[in-house]
Amino acid sequence: MSRIPFWILVLWASFIRYTVSDSDWTKECNICSCIWVSGRRIANCSNKGFNRIPNGLSNLVREIDFSNNALYSLADGEFISANLLDIHKLKFQNCSIELFYEGAFRRLALIIELDLSRNSIAELKSNTFRDNVKLRILSLSYNRIKTLEEGLFSNMSFVQRIHVDHNEIEHISENTFYNLPLLTDINLGYNKLKTAAFDLKEKLPKLNSLNVEENPWICDCRLGLFHQSLMKNNLITHATKCEKPPKFKGQRGKAFLVRLL
Ligand SMILES: *[C@@H]1O[C@H](CO)[C@@H](O)[C@H](O)[C@H]1NC(C)=O
Ligand SMILES: *[C@@H]1O[C@H](CO)[C@@H](O)[C@H](O)[C@H]1NC(C)=O
Ligand SMILES: *[C@@H]1O[C@H](CO)[C@@H](O)[C@H](O)[C@H]1NC(C)=O
Repeated sequence: MSRIPFWILVLWASFIRYTVSDSDWTKECNICSCIWVSGRRIANCSNKGFNRIPNGLSNLVREIDFSNNALYSLADGEFISANLLDIHKLKFQNCSIELFYEGAFRRLALIIELDLSRNSIAELKSNTFRDNVKLRILSLSYNRIKTLEEGLFSNMSFVQRIHVDHNEIEHISENTFYNLPLLTDINLGYNKLKTAAFDLKEKLPKLNSLNVEENPWICDCRLGLFHQSLMKNNLITHATKCEKPPKFKGQRGKAFLVRLL
């Protein structure tokens, strides 16, 4: 062993690395299962007991399912250290994520689909998705989000669907969803919204589907502009009732949709 020149070892090592990564990426898979599915390279890392983003996954992988691992947090630059920057889809359902660093998804410039549903995320800083310029589908359903910071959903040129249902969101403003030219579908159902005072459609030209069911809406004149814009554009997808005033309470659909004002 000691007689083999160092440069030969280096060459040998890079040769192995080259052949493994190019011809058999499925071997660089840590303990996940790596498979081709209709032309896509997928690593299924669900239920593997990981508590951080593992090293040793081939950077040729394009989709990773990390569901059902108790990750608790996503650290700053976690995908940079794992050398996984060319990912298209990431799934983190039921990963007990509470702590979400603003830079967790830094430099993931190719990501298209991100599923963070069924965690315990309470707070998301406004620059969390700043580098994810190709993002089309984002799910944050079933978390504990109270506030959507202004800027969090802004300037995303390709985003089509944002689901933030089953959270604790109390307030949305005119700039909560800002400059999202292709956004067609928002789910805000099962939150704590009481009122909104702007024309959502004016902000989001492509919007055609909005779910705001099961929020404690106060159906008074403050809701007027928002409500009229939803009605005019036929955006509401699920019957929605008013919590207040008492005369409307519990009346499904019509109370909110027609008799308001
Ligand atoms: C990963 O495996 C789990 C359990 O076998 C399965 O339910 C899930 O759909 C798989 N994920 C992907 C992306 O194929
Ligand atoms: C959620 O993930 C944990 C592992 O962290 C697992 O034990 C549990 O079965 C998962 N729950 C569901 C509903 O899949
Ligand atoms: C979004 O783009 C506008 C116009 O280019 C810019 O003024 C604004 O600062 C951007 N917002 C964020 C949060 O980057």
